[in-house]
Amino acid sequence: MDKLLKIGVLVSGSGSNLQSILDACAAGRLKARVVCVISNVADAYALERAQAAGVPALHLDHRAHSGREAYDQALVTTLREFGAELVAMAGFMRIITPVLLDAFPMAVMNIHPALLPAFPGLHAQRQALEYGVKVAGCTVHLVDPGTDTGPIIMQAAVPIVEGDTEQTLSARIQKEEHRIYPEAIGLFAAGRLSVNGRRVEILAT
Ligand code: GRF
Repeated sequence: MDKLLKIGVLVSGSGSNLQSILDACAAGRLKARVVCVISNVADAYALERAQAAGVPALHLDHRAHSGREAYDQALVTTLREFGAELVAMAGFMRIITPVLLDAFPMAVMNIHPALLPAFPGLHAQRQALEYGVKVAGCTVHLVDPGTDTGPIIMQAAVPIVEGDTEQTLSARIQKEEHRIYPEAIGLFAAGRLSVNGRRVEILAT
């Protein structure tokens, strides 16, 4: 049997992306295993999803640490304890520092609900609607020290339809998120991502 990639997932909220990763692992579509789920928010529903899947679910409160670096050091310690090889941010509402990035070089991923580099930061779907674009989408990228600026692994486009609200658009984008995040992680697990500056080449099998 192929070796399973060990993933540590960072969350703050509902965890529907976490669920898509857990489901893909359980179905054998993703040759990986979630070894721990860490939330900075105590009552994040994502922690319940982790527990239901039998995955260690931990609350690490950022307010209990003296600053961003100290918090990230605590994340690194915990992720290492569980042997994580890839860190997947899935709705983790914290800016991370080089303390985490240097501990997992080219091995921290994020999913963002926009076609980057358009609409980085918070409320990306609202930004897209207010700007009036006709096509929105989502992006899986490697994380670098900027906000949503790292090398892009995979994107999916989602049309904006007449009468869309932030909620309807977000729901349509999330369907695509749940498809491409496990797929991108699968490429990482298979060693098929080759990063050259900003460009990520997907190697053939
Ligand atoms: C997603 O829209 C993701 O793109 C963004 O945060 C949201 C998390 O949703 N980074 P969920 O917690 O995975 O349901």
